[in-house]
Amino acid sequence: MKMILFIFICFYTSLTFANTFNENSAKAIFESRCSICHPLEWSLERRKTKKGWKETVERMRKKTAGNVISDEDVVIITEYLYKIRGK
Ligand code: HEC
Repeated sequence: MKMILFIFICFYTSLTFANTFNENSAKAIFESRCSICHPLEWSLERRKTKKGWKETVERMRKKTAGNVISDEDVVIITEYLYKIRGK
């Protein structure tokens, strides 16, 4: 019984972890938020460190009025850009 419970917990945590970062939905969030003011190429033609991307995304967020880019979006977009355009 303990073993079954253990397997279940492992399975469940791996599922929830996979849900926290989904590359397809991250791409959709990036494309909708980061194409409002300039082409996506501005981001895609550069490579940055994770810290660099985080700073850029935070800086872009400050340019927007209101809550166009949420706290969660900052995390997801940073993760996505670092994954595809990291250095
Ligand atoms: C409110 C308008 C606006 C939005 C939304 C916006 N940007 Fe920008 N972005 C700008 C402007 C204006 C510049 C040029 C001036 C500058 O660099 O601050 C720029 C420049 C950039 C640059 C080149 C400069 C650098 O720091 O490398 C990158 C990369 C970039 N944006 C990425 C993004 C990403 C990623 C997002 C989505 C999180 C985003 N932008 C959303 C307005 C915006």
